[in-house]
Amino acid sequence: MAISIKISKTPQSRIHLFDFNNIEFGKIFSDHMFRVDCLNGVWQEPEILPYGNISIAPSLSAIHYGQSIFEGMKAFKNPEGKPQLFRPLENIKRLNKSAERMGMPIIPEELFLEGLKQLVNLDQNWIPTAEGSALYLRPFMFATDDFVGVRSSLNYSFMIFCCPVNSYYPKPIKVRVEKKFVRASDGMAGYAKAAGNYGISMLPTAEAKKDGYDQIIWTDGRTHEHVEESGTTNLFFVMEDKLILTPKLDGNILEGITRDSCIKLLRNKGYEVQERDISIIEIIDAAKANKLTDAFGTGTAAIIAKIASIGYEGVDYELPPAESRLVSNWLYQNIYQIQTGKQEDTLNWVMAI
Ligand code: COI
Repeated sequence: MAISIKISKTPQSRIHLFDFNNIEFGKIFSDHMFRVDCLNGVWQEPEILPYGNISIAPSLSAIHYGQSIFEGMKAFKNPEGKPQLFRPLENIKRLNKSAERMGMPIIPEELFLEGLKQLVNLDQNWIPTAEGSALYLRPFMFATDDFVGVRSSLNYSFMIFCCPVNSYYPKPIKVRVEKKFVRASDGMAGYAKAAGNYGISMLPTAEAKKDGYDQIIWTDGRTHEHVEESGTTNLFFVMEDKLILTPKLDGNILEGITRDSCIKLLRNKGYEVQERDISIIEIIDAAKANKLTDAFGTGTAAIIAKIASIGYEGVDYELPPAESRLVSNWLYQNIYQIQTGKQEDTLNWVMAI
């Protein structure tokens, strides 16, 4: 299907207003955004327009009942200066999986991809090239009915905007195991990238921050004995630089694309990666015995976030220094080099624009 997108360019780029050597995550927005509405199940004419505020009704159903989902993706420049995307089809599939769970319409893959490509192409001067940086892309869909009854909205907007970013965490993070609050449990929407899954993390994360931590580690909703994910990333634990553990996809955790990429790269390198239930006691015992040689979070925004220490029942278990982390240092180098076209893309993950 040929997709024609109406493009209204900004009369004046804002790019000169920003210092790309000093970027704070999520605070700078590129010149344009993409928008397409779905009215009564029919996708309308898509458009690219200058980034700016949108008008919404106070009764907007996304605000009241939470039909709101999003994705995180990144665009990079390869050594020839050409923009490229990393595994975009995986994000499209995941957004549609989230949409299905939240009773929202499925967006045609080619409509999403064409909007994304044309937007990134238009704003390609906003892709930063310093080590660790990228153009973060935020596709999202939300319910737009101005109706206060509780039912699936009939109308939706799908949009994409772009932010030049550095890595989400500038240094290794201190995490605390959360045993009071729950992110998701069986039958809920833990695998969906639904706004509400992040909304419920705000209070427990703020409490952890008050106590000097950067993030929490969610535990399972039934027993609080198993590790699930952090507030912003999937999790990996490395035993004696050999065995790598990551929580299995049980419907309660996000099906991370960086998580999947890390597992594939590690297995190709010959590491044993086990996707399974991981008890927090197993991790703490390994830390006590100095067998936990590395632990890190993975995500689009964070890429690889090394864990500096794990707080559990009032004790902080310190991990080895960041420079000595064989697995996370190797992974970061490999993933980022593939994303930026500096390493051969043998797994076919990169899509030129
Ligand atoms: C991402 O990694 O893209 C996310 O959506 C996580 C968010 C904390 C920025």
